[in-house]
Amino acid sequence: MVTRTLIIIPTYNERESLPVQVDGVREACPDVDILVADDNSPDGTGEWADARAESDSHVHVLHRPGKAGLGAAYLAGFSWGLERGYDVLVEMDADGSHRAQDLPSVLDAPQPWDLAIGSRWVPGGSVVNWPKHRLFLSTNANRYVRLMLGLHVRDATAGFRAYTADILKRIDLADVESQGYCFQIDMAWRVAKAGGAIAEVPITFVEREQGVSKMSGSIIREALVKTTVWGTKERAAQVRRAFSR
Ligand code: GDD
Ligand code: MN
Repeated sequence: MVTRTLIIIPTYNERESLPVQVDGVREACPDVDILVADDNSPDGTGEWADARAESDSHVHVLHRPGKAGLGAAYLAGFSWGLERGYDVLVEMDADGSHRAQDLPSVLDAPQPWDLAIGSRWVPGGSVVNWPKHRLFLSTNANRYVRLMLGLHVRDATAGFRAYTADILKRIDLADVESQGYCFQIDMAWRVAKAGGAIAEVPITFVEREQGVSKMSGSIIREALVKTTVWGTKERAAQVRRAFSR
């Protein structure tokens, strides 16, 4: 059976980067389809994607009314792909940080997996050109996630990852409300709780050269607060179970 794979690329003001990313993916994996999920970027990213979709049947565009966060864009992309019968749905940034040349190894992650993560923090993985504060943030966010959620993943915030349609159908996507990068932690944890297998393969994450990151204080706060709340609830449930035996 042929596996139908959809690469979802969320965009907000990525007019410079997106063309390079789309070309890279088409070249590295000519059989996959791409869905650009654009939040009505003022810089014309959506219009570029429309023109590309006209000339390339592997490229599709989902126009969303306005900037609503990476999580919401991915959820809309997942629904779009599940409705159309894709077997594997992939998250990938537009800005070149997720190299198309690493895509085959994410898709060919050692079986079995329901979620294959392109990881910076397993042997062989790396980050190029990140300022100290981003390295600090990523390392400590991952430590905190492991501690609070007991999630045995080295790179839980990674945004380069593939899900099987099967696991996405087993998760209540309507219930996911994380908007920023917390979405990544949220989804990994939901996969684990649904009994899904998680694989991690090393990738090289290269900081963008064009455009700007949408990372902000409120995005960091959302991740910190939500992880703390989830972890605390999980602990409370464990304690309740232990005492009700
Ligand atoms: N549609 C849409 N709406 N796309 C968005 C939005 C939004 O509100 N915010 C960001 N994006 C898109 C960007 O255009 C880009 O393609 C991708 O999401 C990643 O955004 P960046 O702003 O470049 O993220 P980053 O480099 O700071 O963060 C990356 O690393 C994090 C972990 O360190 C991402 O891969 C995150 O998902 C990841 O958690
Ligand atoms: Mn980026």
